[in-house]
Amino acid sequence: MAKPRMSSIDGKLAEEFAVPAHVEEVKEKMAAFAGHHVTAGRRVVLITSGGTKVPLESRTVRFLDNFSSGRRGASSAEYFMDSGYAVVFLHRHRSLYPYARMFSNINMLDALKFSGGDGASGNSGEVVVNQQVLPDIARALKRYQEVKEGRLLLPIEFSTLSEYLHLLKAAAQALSAIESKAMFYLAAAVSDFYIPASEMPEHKIQSSNGPLQLSMNMVPKILSPLVKDWAPQAFVISFKLETDPTILLDKARRALDAYRHQAVVANVLDSRRGYVVVVTPETQAELIISDEDVKNDVEIEERIVSNLTSAHNKFITQQGG
Ligand code: PMT
Repeated sequence: MAKPRMSSIDGKLAEEFAVPAHVEEVKEKMAAFAGHHVTAGRRVVLITSGGTKVPLESRTVRFLDNFSSGRRGASSAEYFMDSGYAVVFLHRHRSLYPYARMFSNINMLDALKFSGGDGASGNSGEVVVNQQVLPDIARALKRYQEVKEGRLLLPIEFSTLSEYLHLLKAAAQALSAIESKAMFYLAAAVSDFYIPASEMPEHKIQSSNGPLQLSMNMVPKILSPLVKDWAPQAFVISFKLETDPTILLDKARRALDAYRHQAVVANVLDSRRGYVVVVTPETQAELIISDEDVKNDVEIEERIVSNLTSAHNKFITQQGG
């Protein structure tokens, strides 16, 4: 197997972002998962999902976060598995999770009914699911169990920006062995700013010192070494989020020019559930969810995944895979 190339970002990552203790163990798990599924004739997608947490103090009391719920990543994971992919799900701790996401707003205690017994040991009674409170639970549970039995989903958690960066690098290196059969679907909302460990106060910042002024460094764009050095033969999709729709497509095109990867999924914060544009160097496809689609529970991620799995097929054929 070819050794992964070093990039100028490797040094910065090692020096300025704390390396999670379990990174090598997770890397081996991801490599074994990818190897197993490719041997079984499947493709593997690495999905990043949710926002990153950026600490302001080393003994962290406060941190910067962002809006991302992880819904895009969690629902896309389901559609990828329905399309025959195995999924490495690199997600923010406690963000939305495949299948469970449908019930995230429900208080489980309202969905269960206790009867018989007094709940004490030896007389623990019976707990029954109220399917009116959990609509679709049977379908979701059945599919979740199939996915678990087939070991199609490898969940990996991150919380902080440092964990995200190191685990993504490890994932890229682990999946590089399966070459064009790997897809990277970078839907996480990653902070662009951070405070280097060397400049971070150790203890809780004191409000008695008056108003807080922060100076933050730029986070290295991880897309660059991912495409050039860590997984150069993979099919790589980034996302571009803006709040101003007039600059969105230009920014998406600029990202493709800069990083030379395969596609950008462009979306605007307020309309992200109903409208995205998949931009490639040669094409631009608008994907829209109509009111009728909403009534029929059609989600935009189903269309995004369908568009990208077709493009991935063509990519593999072109690469002679
Ligand atoms: O989670 P939801 O609530 O469902 O919302 C989904 C979403 C809006 C978060 C998702 O659709 C989305 O757009 N994700 C990317 C948001 C984002 O961070 O955009 P960006 O323009 O800042 O970053 C562009 C790309 O560069 C992203 O693919 C990101 O993974 C990547 N990046 C970002 C920062 C960094 N240091 N290195 C990177 O490689």
